[in-house]
Amino acid sequence: MSGLFISFEGIDGAGKSTHIAALAQALESQGREVTLTREPGGTPLAEALRSMVLNDAMDPLTESLLVFAARRDHIVRVIAPALAEGKVVVCDRFTDATFAYQGAGRAFDWKVLQQLEGWVQGGATASEGSQALLQPDLTLWFDLPASVAAQRLAGARVPDKFESQPGAFFEKVSSGYARRQDEDPARFARIDANQSPAAVWQNVVDAVREKGWLP
Ligand code: TYD
Repeated sequence: MSGLFISFEGIDGAGKSTHIAALAQALESQGREVTLTREPGGTPLAEALRSMVLNDAMDPLTESLLVFAARRDHIVRVIAPALAEGKVVVCDRFTDATFAYQGAGRAFDWKVLQQLEGWVQGGATASEGSQALLQPDLTLWFDLPASVAAQRLAGARVPDKFESQPGAFFEKVSSGYARRQDEDPARFARIDANQSPAAVWQNVVDAVREKGWLP
């Protein structure tokens, strides 16, 4: 059985969390071994970088280098080995978040991000003789208007650096996700996150079923 790589994306407040856990359970109940992880993070080094990225002010290139450094460690230590063992990797955010937040949100150069993506995700499985770019097999993009996300987040907890950004920032982040989907439509399933949790879950299951990974 070959490994599967599934990522979840969306602006803060889009409501990914419960569905990530539910999908991991659904896949496990099909007898698959699931590695549940997140970005930035997923290894001790990457989690240390995460706390800098989420808490410290920095210019967008520094931020991009840190999230890609975290990603490289995560790929090498966790994602590539799990996929090589035939596991399902379910990841809360991956590179699309960098294009959406640093690229679109912070207006950082898309082409530079593409170069970093090539370095960090290219040759990730070099031990298997492949130089192909490591990308998720499926990306579930939880799309939600920024105004609705802001209402959901209001008062929920102490906001981090990104969560405290104004609505206009998240509108740009959403446009970054839309651009990523346009650049690689076959990889994406856009989920309308402005529905009841049950309806969103049904859409998640439908997208995974369409790939043949759930009965
Ligand atoms: P998030 O995944 O929403 O976790 P939590 O639910 O614990 O807040 O938080 C991660 C934040 O990091 C989110 O605001 C998006 C941001 N981020 C980037 O800016 N660039 C990236 O490449 C990634 C992976 C995340």
